[in-house]
Amino acid sequence: MSRKIVVTSALPYANGPIHIGHLVEYLQTDSWVSFQKTCGNQCFYFCADDTHGTPIMIKARQEGVKPEELVTRIAAEHLDDLTAFGVAFDNFHSTHSDENEELVSHIYLALRERGHIYTKTIEQAYDEQENMFLPDRFVKGTCPRCKSPDQYGDACEVCGATYSTNDLIEPTSVLSDTPPVWRDSEHYFFKLSEFGDQLRTWMRDAKLHQNITSKLEEWFEAGLQDWDISRDAPYFGFRIPDTQDKYFYVWLDAPVGYLASFLQYCRQHGEPDFDAYWNADSEFEVYHFIGKDIVYFHTLFWPAVLAGAGMRTPTSVFAHGFLTINGKKMSKSRGTFINARTFRDNLDPSLLRYYYAAKLGSGMDDLDLNLDDFIARVNSDLVGKLVNIASRCAGFISKRFAGRLAAELDDEP
Ligand code: MSP
Ligand code: ZN
Repeated sequence: MSRKIVVTSALPYANGPIHIGHLVEYLQTDSWVSFQKTCGNQCFYFCADDTHGTPIMIKARQEGVKPEELVTRIAAEHLDDLTAFGVAFDNFHSTHSDENEELVSHIYLALRERGHIYTKTIEQAYDEQENMFLPDRFVKGTCPRCKSPDQYGDACEVCGATYSTNDLIEPTSVLSDTPPVWRDSEHYFFKLSEFGDQLRTWMRDAKLHQNITSKLEEWFEAGLQDWDISRDAPYFGFRIPDTQDKYFYVWLDAPVGYLASFLQYCRQHGEPDFDAYWNADSEFEVYHFIGKDIVYFHTLFWPAVLAGAGMRTPTSVFAHGFLTINGKKMSKSRGTFINARTFRDNLDPSLLRYYYAAKLGSGMDDLDLNLDDFIARVNSDLVGKLVNIASRCAGFISKRFAGRLAAELDDEP
């Protein structure tokens, strides 16, 4: 019997172009989906652009356009690049959409009704020049532990310490370069701390890769913290129902974008039945492909939010490692930060597709694009073997079979 499967790739941020690091994920997922479809399974592949949050709001402001305009333009570029690399989504939607707002509100209200949401007043950095609350990454200062200058408001890149923004020494707003003041603000929290047992059960059922389970064990060990799901205005996102100026944090509505893309597809095609997939006792399979940097969001927050709202949880999550080039992190200064556009302007996208497919495995190890190895593999595997077979066949097909293949020969008298 054919399986019924829904597959997603993480939603690319609408604040920059697709690069060949992203492509590791989209090509891995697409190869998997294509395999499932070839086996005769009913398999849907959904994705969307991830459009909300402060960085996108700021970028739009810098370009002098509305955030809506920016995200529409970037989504079109993303889809164009991904399509050029052969990535064949069944639907590509946006988190800035009616379907997403409908689903996010539904999920939030279900969580609230079931007692999984509470509010708490917290102190937040506020930029009086820009008149806005500052997210952690928009405040920089000296690390309270090792005293390294120029560190972000949530963690030190030098000594690895994590802290809260008001522990930073001499904090400044990256937007205005002025010191922030501290203001009280009421925030909405999701009680992740109550989901430990359910998440452990989910983790076992999902048969996650050992790389992910060991991460999860560490997080369970450290204790699950409740999750702040709100942000203050001005914020590009969805307003929280029954509030004046509170918005859903982008990471609450981003994974809901998977469902929004699916829902839009169901409405446009009249099938499959959205509720049959997403109710708590659904029999269908749902898999998320992601990178190792977003495992926390997909294996703790996301299944807990779904379970809390009375919806089904993902069947499993597959996480891959990061792309390095010649053994090093992609870097603009080394000229190894390669956009999808640059690659397709210079080389055939299917070469990269082959290279990644040949090198990817099931775990979270980083994957190296070694340029000498890339050339060698293309020449030996693709040109020397694959193309060679085709070209040898071409010879005898034209000499002995009048240049015609089997399907046509069947029609011969
Ligand atoms: N918008 C979030 C995902 C939300 S999913 C509900 C995000 N976006 S991203 O554009 O930064 O990354 C999209 C995917 O590409 C992520 O899974 C990320 O891990 C992956 N990669 C981004 N850079 C990468 C490399 N250099 N190498 C491999 N994968 C990389 O995260
Ligand atoms: Zn430090």
